[in-house]
Amino acid sequence: MPDTAPPAAALLNAIRAVVGDRGLLTDSADTAAYTEDWRHLYQGRTSAVIRPGTTQELSEVVRLCAASATPIVPQGGNNSMVGGAVPNENGAELILSTARLNRIRDLDPVDMTLTLEAGVTLKAAQTAAAEQNCLLPLSISSEGTAQIGGVLAVNAGGNNTVRYGNARDLVLGLEVVLPDGTIWNGLRRLRKDNTGYCLRQLFVGSEGTLGIITAAVLKLAPQPKEIAVALCGVASPEAALDLFTRFQAHDPASVNAFELMSGTGMSFVLRHIPGAVLPLEDESPFYVLVELATPRPNANLRHVLEHVLEQALAAGTVHDAVIAASEAQRAAIWKLREEHSEAQKREGASIKNDVSVPVSKVPAFIARATAACEALMPGIRVVPFGHMGDGNIHFNLEQPAGAGAAWFLARDHAIMDAVNEVVRAFDGSFSAEHGIGRLKPYMMPDWRGGAELALMQRIKAAIDPAGLMNPGKVLP
Ligand code: MLT
Ligand code: ZN
Repeated sequence: MPDTAPPAAALLNAIRAVVGDRGLLTDSADTAAYTEDWRHLYQGRTSAVIRPGTTQELSEVVRLCAASATPIVPQGGNNSMVGGAVPNENGAELILSTARLNRIRDLDPVDMTLTLEAGVTLKAAQTAAAEQNCLLPLSISSEGTAQIGGVLAVNAGGNNTVRYGNARDLVLGLEVVLPDGTIWNGLRRLRKDNTGYCLRQLFVGSEGTLGIITAAVLKLAPQPKEIAVALCGVASPEAALDLFTRFQAHDPASVNAFELMSGTGMSFVLRHIPGAVLPLEDESPFYVLVELATPRPNANLRHVLEHVLEQALAAGTVHDAVIAASEAQRAAIWKLREEHSEAQKREGASIKNDVSVPVSKVPAFIARATAACEALMPGIRVVPFGHMGDGNIHFNLEQPAGAGAAWFLARDHAIMDAVNEVVRAFDGSFSAEHGIGRLKPYMMPDWRGGAELALMQRIKAAIDPAGLMNPGKVLP
């Protein structure tokens, strides 16, 4: 078991000798930003944040920690919604930040591959791909600060899953530092490579509990030649589903994103996010953001959008819609969606249920989960939004007006359990894209118990027998 005493000065000196002064933060004023999670749910402690500059340095640090049985919490952009990247409160865990591993090693526009280090932000990776006329087809609200290592460690999903799949679908190769400090170089960039167990997929989604991803080879896609975005007001999730099926029937290959928002969530964005403006005449109970894109020239996607929306307006599925006429308008519409989490945070405390159900069941799920939460806590504000096109709804709840944050958050298990009961009735998942982190390990026995959890525990014990990698995360 990991030692619970703070790491000895001798260990920190040995680490300093590897990473230098620049790579080691020990002052609590400097480490504070690394010990608290984005949602302010957890305030951990640590005696050091280590920021290695190379994979070799990182491996030597891990070897020193292994030799002294010191637990490590790997951290990228620290955007976890489930407390996956912060240490516990006992001060014994060291944070290992990938921020300085931030080089793009190679971009090959013929092979359509991008080889990059864990600390490159998703935004920087997208930009590098675009400069070579390629697309890195992964987009999440926190892409400005999210780092590739963390994105892969949680198998992030985001806005384009409906078309391109999740982060794991883009990974061709990985470089990983194992819990004993060994570097596994699996940076192959092959489209076909059936050579035994697929180890890279074991590390993707393992949330830093099996090793630390230090570099990756990602698959790129052709850059779109046209992108068209619309914001639509709809009466209900049923109407949103009807609109989705219309787009799928018309041209499924061009649907890049199909995002649902509620009137409550939109009102938070309009209230709290400077510059946010609703580009529709009237407010609506629900909204859909649909984005079409294609690498084909002269596809006239605007015409496709107009055509499908006209039919949906005539059928009463949509009551109002606006199509972005410029890049600035497109960005403004996306901002209304991407700022949902930030706006919700500014509104007050929130309980998040990052769940998925089959796409066809999204409306029924939202109706039943809403009724269950309102029965449990009258006045609770339901804020469902997210990636309707792939069935991933952020079924978030905001405290009743006038209720205290602490009072509300103390009831999080009761509320999450009530939502999960509905998720289960639709054969869904209690964790779609944010992972398990520190918030949800208690749910694992119920949802993944028996052979599945036992196998996960055996894998963990085989790769990290001392339990030093991100303790307390994922597994109960
Ligand atoms: C998003 O899609 O904006 C985030 O994953 C959702 C959240 O904050 O729950
Ligand atoms: Zn999301």
